[in-house]
Amino acid sequence: MAYIEFSGVEKRYGNFQAVSRFDLTVEKGEMIALLGPSGCGKTTTLRMLAGFVPVSAGTMRVDGRDITREPPYRRNMGMVFQGYALFPHMTVARNIAFGLEMRGVPASEITARVIEALDRVRLHDFAERLPRQLSGGQQQRVALARAMAINPDVLLLDEPLSALDARLRHEVRAEIRQLQRATGLTTLIVTHDQDEALSMADRLVVMSKGCIEQIGSPADLYERPCNRFVADFMGRSNFLGGKLDGDGRFLTDHGVALNFDGAIPNDASTLSFRPERTRLVAPDALGASATDGSTNTLAGTIVSFAYLGPVIECQVQVDDGPTVMALLTNTVDPARLGMHEGSRIGVQWSRRDTTLLA
Ligand SMILES: Nc1ncnc2c1ncn2[C@@H]1O[C@H](COP(=O)(O)OP(=O)(O)OP(=O)(O)O)[C@@H](O)[C@H]1O
Ligand SMILES: [Mg+2]
Repeated sequence: MAYIEFSGVEKRYGNFQAVSRFDLTVEKGEMIALLGPSGCGKTTTLRMLAGFVPVSAGTMRVDGRDITREPPYRRNMGMVFQGYALFPHMTVARNIAFGLEMRGVPASEITARVIEALDRVRLHDFAERLPRQLSGGQQQRVALARAMAINPDVLLLDEPLSALDARLRHEVRAEIRQLQRATGLTTLIVTHDQDEALSMADRLVVMSKGCIEQIGSPADLYERPCNRFVADFMGRSNFLGGKLDGDGRFLTDHGVALNFDGAIPNDASTLSFRPERTRLVAPDALGASATDGSTNTLAGTIVSFAYLGPVIECQVQVDDGPTVMALLTNTVDPARLGMHEGSRIGVQWSRRDTTLLA
């Protein structure tokens, strides 16, 4: 049986539908990321589960128990709110103790629980500091310790890393993941950062305008996005408009037949392929590869190269068609291969790496 179950959960503010028919089941110990653009309903969904926002319709169950109308303090969920919110006038230790007192934990136990919580995030030496005497990453870890100190059944993290710089984000997200694995705590984390979601979660829920677009493992969403929104949101993709043209063939709007594998969605009008799955081939290979059903090749002209450190991004203007992007690993030196801006080139990728989208 699923540990957390949302069935048909909705939230309306007046006429505005913030969350529509939200259905999701979460297994015990799972880490789920809610992902989507600003305003798509991520925070609202988390706050409905926590009990801070009443639902307009639907039910939520935890461990088989209907919690839809229970007050927040009866739900036993630890929450880290968007933008860390420690009480500024309380020491780190008092911040953590406060939540325990609110829940009626006996005073004799509180000290030990505070120490345990601070040990967990490796901040035992900071107990007597005020929040403003901590770095952003340390404050974020205190907020996490505070949420976990109550021994919650469910941990809810709303953009817990948003205030951190890129380097610290990487560190703290690895720590959160380790803690979550070690404690087996069922966790919902909200983020709008797709790298964060891919690297942390067992499954992702991609949302748009209050609706779930797709639920799946990181690989599912990245390799098999169900529509253009998800493909575009999860990393970068090339998209070509067109229509089906017989078995496993797609005719682009600019008149090139391409091969694809896999499912054909209803109303398939877009073909996509990832820039990192392409290679650039010499123009003299174009004629030969075009007849080979296992690959696709588009002929064009190199518009630009951008050196991005680990990869080189290459924009290619397809003959009579759109511009597409190819990513080269920086073990390739385009100039040494005679590739320059303005060079004739072929962009080639495998039929297996070609997806049709609705
Ligand atoms: N109290 C409220 N009254 C009216 N509308 C609200 C209220 N709270 C949220 N909304 C609206 O509901 C929508 C979803 O908001 P929510 O905070 O869930 O978005 P989000 O996905 O968390 O976005 P972000 O990534 O910016 O945090 C937004 O359009 C927001 O303006
Ligand atoms: Mg939010």
